[in-house]
Amino acid sequence: MRALLIAPEGMLGRAWKALLEERGLAHDVTGLPAFDLLDDASVAAGVRAEHDVVINCAAWTDVDGAEEHEAKATAVNGEAVGRLARRCLEVGATLVHYGTDYVFSGDAEAPYPVDAPIDPVNAYGRSKAAGERALEEVGAPYLHLRTSWLYAPWGKNFVLTMARLGQERDRLQVVNDQRGRPTSCRHLAATTLALLEKEARGTFHVTDGGECTWFDLAAHVVGRVAPGTEVAPCTSDAFPRPAKRPAYSVLDLSATEALVGPMGAWEAHVDAALEAAGLI
Ligand SMILES: NC(=O)c1ccc[n+]([C@@H]2O[C@H](COP(=O)([O-])OP(=O)(O)OC[C@H]3O[C@@H](n4cnc5c(N)ncnc54)[C@H](OP(=O)(O)O)[C@@H]3O)[C@@H](O)[C@H]2O)c1
Repeated sequence: MRALLIAPEGMLGRAWKALLEERGLAHDVTGLPAFDLLDDASVAAGVRAEHDVVINCAAWTDVDGAEEHEAKATAVNGEAVGRLARRCLEVGATLVHYGTDYVFSGDAEAPYPVDAPIDPVNAYGRSKAAGERALEEVGAPYLHLRTSWLYAPWGKNFVLTMARLGQERDRLQVVNDQRGRPTSCRHLAATTLALLEKEARGTFHVTDGGECTWFDLAAHVVGRVAPGTEVAPCTSDAFPRPAKRPAYSVLDLSATEALVGPMGAWEAHVDAALEAAGLI
């Protein structure tokens, strides 16, 4: 297998790059500015016949910014996915692509199975839903992983932000009315590779095991990094943001776990990321 990794400098891209290197898997990496998903010629030149698998870690990930710039978000998260899938079809490559829990409305009371109807409540969710449709329409072989609440020992993410704020402040307030599943980028990349090795195709959900609110996640992180800091729960009204968030976006993992085993508790994955970041 020879892989092409797109966006190796992004949060998930960095985890993928490390994994490909650790496992000694043949691969090329590409990203902005040389490789722009919005440009036909760039995609045609970057994705070549020797690539068996194309791992797309590129996306528009600014959830609030997408409200004001929905067309731009959709160009990257929707139209460009179709462009990439068409090129994969031409060269006979399998496209690995990442989706989001935010394609679901968030009014469920039990985890969303892979085939639950999608009904996004914000522009980012709609842009990622356009990507899902593009994958289905083009017909190239694909492995599409919906995931949620990504964090890593690097990059800009909630876990590192809470660790920093916990060290800087005596008290934090964190929303306790959104429930989901955090996801370690390292675990996500490794689980994706395990699914690829099982020749899984289509849509799967990959997150850490267990579920929590943002408050629960923050309390765990601060408890590890700065146990003297108080973490208090609040409602989303305390932090108004441009994009509405789904209240409940727990992804059902049963199809994934049946193929590659249990996902592992989020607390253990978070601790591993904090340790790798040198914070505990
Ligand atoms: N972060 C989350 O909590 C979360 C939750 C659910 C799903 N996901 C999905 O998981 C995947 C990885 O997310 P992430 O958090 O790792 O993203 P990220 O850190 O924001 O990285 C995205 C990368 O895409 C690149 N990119 C943007 N536009 C591009 C273009 N036109 N051509 C080529 N590259 C482009 C960016 O480059 P620049 O930095 O140079 O712009 C950046 O390196 C995405 O599909 C995302 O939608 C993320």
